[in-house]
Amino acid sequence: MLAIIGGSGLTTLSNLDVSHREVVRTPYGEPSGSLVFGEICGKPAMFLPRHGYGHTIAPHMVNYRANLWALHHHKATGIISVASVGGIRDDLGPGEIVLPNQIIDYTWGRKSTFFEGVGTTVTHVDFTEPYDRELCKRIEEAAESLGISVKVGGVYAATQGPRLETAAEINRLERDGADLVGMTGMPEAVLARELGIPYAAINVVANHAAGRGSSANGIHFESLEHVLHEAMGRVRTIIERVVGCQDNCQPMGLSV
Ligand code: HPA
Repeated sequence: MLAIIGGSGLTTLSNLDVSHREVVRTPYGEPSGSLVFGEICGKPAMFLPRHGYGHTIAPHMVNYRANLWALHHHKATGIISVASVGGIRDDLGPGEIVLPNQIIDYTWGRKSTFFEGVGTTVTHVDFTEPYDRELCKRIEEAAESLGISVKVGGVYAATQGPRLETAAEINRLERDGADLVGMTGMPEAVLARELGIPYAAINVVANHAAGRGSSANGIHFESLEHVLHEAMGRVRTIIERVVGCQDNCQPMGLSV
């Protein structure tokens, strides 16, 4: 069963026909919220809001290990991670949907491995390609079949947050090769890899990164809310198609 982790702008999955919810206890503590199970156009899926149902958990406070463990416990066969980002590259303006293919991790102090603790064998997972190629391809093909434009490939810079970056930090990220910037991509991606779950991201550009384009003099999220809202509608449609819906699929119209 595919799992969807929703981020800012996607705290519910309105096209999920909910069957039940489950509070999962994990060896790593509490996940961000109860797991929601259901069907999208008759195909099973589960959903977890990364920041909690009330959007109260900051990026550096998310219990990524508990979240990933819970999805693994419920036999997730793949994870689609949805998150909003800032666009660094010129062509990544508000509303663009990006499927990144690389990550640079600038986060610190987060619990970023399952392989630690007394009696645990030190394990180094391969992370050359942080996102699962096949799952990314499925997302790309779903978007293409729907005529929804997505940018394929891009280097995602994971910053600590919760504050936004300075303009100089964005310049540095660009020099490092980053195309987009967000706060939650790590350690989520590597924990999925450690558990052997194929993981892909759908990033929605909410704003030009600090100091760029319309954010030259600051970032004002309020004015971007409608952009995010509209773009997340497109993301939901893509997810429907990936989960396996046919042309005539109608959203269930239920909120979780
Ligand atoms: N920086 C970091 N994370 C973000 C941004 C940003 O500009 N926009 C949305 N998430």
